[in-house]
Amino acid sequence: MTALQSKLPQTGTTIFTVMSALAQQVGAINLSQGFPDFNTSPQLIKLVNTAMRKGHNQYAPMAGVPILRERIAAKTEKLYDAAYDPDSEITITAGGTQAIFTAITAVVHPNDEVIIFEPAFDCYAPAIKLMGGIVKSLELEPPDYQIPWDMVKRLINNKTRMIILNSPHNPTATILHKQDIDELSAIVKNQDILILSDEVYEHLIYDGETHHSMARYPELKQRSFVVASFGKPFHATGWKVGYCMAPAHLMNEFRKVHQFLVFSVNAPVQYAIAEYLKDENTYLSLPGFFQEKRDYFRKGLEQTRFKLLSCSGSYFQSVTYDDIADEKDSDFALRLTKDFGVAVIPISAFYTKGTDYHVLRFCFAKRQETLDKAVERLLRV
Ligand SMILES: Cc1ncc(COP(=O)(O)O)c(C=O)c1O
Repeated sequence: MTALQSKLPQTGTTIFTVMSALAQQVGAINLSQGFPDFNTSPQLIKLVNTAMRKGHNQYAPMAGVPILRERIAAKTEKLYDAAYDPDSEITITAGGTQAIFTAITAVVHPNDEVIIFEPAFDCYAPAIKLMGGIVKSLELEPPDYQIPWDMVKRLINNKTRMIILNSPHNPTATILHKQDIDELSAIVKNQDILILSDEVYEHLIYDGETHHSMARYPELKQRSFVVASFGKPFHATGWKVGYCMAPAHLMNEFRKVHQFLVFSVNAPVQYAIAEYLKDENTYLSLPGFFQEKRDYFRKGLEQTRFKLLSCSGSYFQSVTYDDIADEKDSDFALRLTKDFGVAVIPISAFYTKGTDYHVLRFCFAKRQETLDKAVERLLRV
């Protein structure tokens, strides 16, 4: 066999794949991976079908279908009072993951340092490492997972190339507040530091809170790649269509990578989403829709022995289980899946060092009967 040196020797199969496969194998209710168990809108499906029938089945333009980029620009202007030029500052991507990988690839050079906050979504660190960058991770702690900005300040040096943020946050369901924005702005001012802002849950924010997009703040916007996804808001994670927004000089570098990574993205879905976005209610209704699910699920969980952490955004609810067991979160997650029939994600999987605070993550983007069944089973734990 040919000798091969792995570029990612520590990387195995993601926890999401592992838990979803186990859930299927043992017939557990799958509250592990972040996807809905209800269908996307019939109207949106019809629009995809119409686009296909109209003949939109060949390569889309490299940067994305123009009308979709225009609608995204209009939406961003309206929501965040931020202007992006659809021609030079917005690119449609194959989901948020590709946008993240592309942005990192475009600007991170060997030995550049990139600050990430853990628990972190799993695609950030591998992309940095593949580019020869150095991951500087700061661990956040439950129950509130606040970013310790004084520690961020201490990590900054002339090799710091990028800071990666994610709000609303997967897995902790926390959000950035204005105070975080102020701290961040002060830290990056007059520094050559870029920001990669993963905002795929931008519309899943509750209790009337504001989504502090980097797009809102000129000091941050001019150095940010803002990443969004249509999979999360439109209950269509399998379509893998998202986008990235950045100032033209950054987007220019982004597109140099994008055009050789995927070249262009699924054309009929782009036309369909462009049409769907004409009705702003398609995304403005989402906080109410998911908040109702959050509240319903939390009410159910309150009857169990799990202790709820707060949930301000995303469609994840975390719990601790110290009154129930003292085993590792990964062991307990396996036991919950196999013995009680509810698949969950152990939060230690989101820490490079496997730091374990005995916290589990449930996804509540599910039908009411699925949540009922899950709570019924969790009551037995
Ligand atoms: C925080 C975060 N970023 C990015 C993504 C990836 O988005 P997409 O499915 O559009 O690639 C996810 C998906 O779960 C996520 O949770």
